[in-house]
Amino acid sequence: MAYLKQQRPEKVTVPSVRSSKERGERLVCLTAYDYPTARIVDEAGTDIILVGDSVGNVVLGLETTVPVTLDAMIHHTRAVRRGVTRALLVADMPYGSYHTGEDDAVRAALRLIKEAGAEAVKLEGGSSRAAIVRRLVDEEIPVMGHIGLTPQSFHKFGGNKLQGKTEEAAHRILDDAHAIEDAGAFAIVLEVVPRELAALITKRVGIPTIGIGAGADCDAQILVIHDLLGIAFTPTRPRFVKQYADLRRAMTEAIQTFADEVRSGAYPTEAESYPLPVDTKLDFGSPENSLLADAIPDSET
Ligand code: KIV
Repeated sequence: MAYLKQQRPEKVTVPSVRSSKERGERLVCLTAYDYPTARIVDEAGTDIILVGDSVGNVVLGLETTVPVTLDAMIHHTRAVRRGVTRALLVADMPYGSYHTGEDDAVRAALRLIKEAGAEAVKLEGGSSRAAIVRRLVDEEIPVMGHIGLTPQSFHKFGGNKLQGKTEEAAHRILDDAHAIEDAGAFAIVLEVVPRELAALITKRVGIPTIGIGAGADCDAQILVIHDLLGIAFTPTRPRFVKQYADLRRAMTEAIQTFADEVRSGAYPTEAESYPLPVDTKLDFGSPENSLLADAIPDSET
């Protein structure tokens, strides 16, 4: 665990996330979709790892999260599960997996918990999804809410746009936050809403708010890991995205150096290949039939 920050090595749990608000702790949340990224994100000390349905945008090259399937979420969550030790692992319920009734929602969430190893699920929507949140919580499934800009509503919203701009819309989002808290969610993602509204919601609800494009007053912050590392190929870069590294450049430079060395013959060297053991005799028959005839200089045959 070369990279593990040892300041807070204890496992993050649903109750510890809930109580982080009283302690005034600002939790750090990131997405991950595969084993190596999950290891790095977890060992760097991230508190909550979300296997987001943003996997559709940043890994699968889809325009929206709408086509992401439950099977895809299970596949990616299982990979991430193997790489996470300390963080709380949350999996997104994809579009269509909780829209056809509470029983279907329970079945889908149970697959994410039992088959994939998630410790909680996240689903999008406010008051209209409160009954589903309550039912999942009743079935011992911890739920993270997600309100404001909900990317699964891409077609309804006509794109990924700032939500809660009018007084009426802001009130609706505040009501959504209360409905999700009352239904038993342990935290709520607030996505792309005005910072004043996010601050008000954060003050009014008793569970942690996790902001993405919602200003500095949320209890926690989340970003999509590909945005943070500079390897997202999404058509637009929202203003809330802060790129902390340029891995696209670092990866391109590494690949170009490899290509140059392959083309020039500089790679592989002896150090990167295997010599025949000295006591092994090579006998491939007559030199003219030998596969190595061209490779072995005359002086050595
Ligand atoms: O899918 C996702 O990555 C998310 C976060 C942006 C909150 O829902």
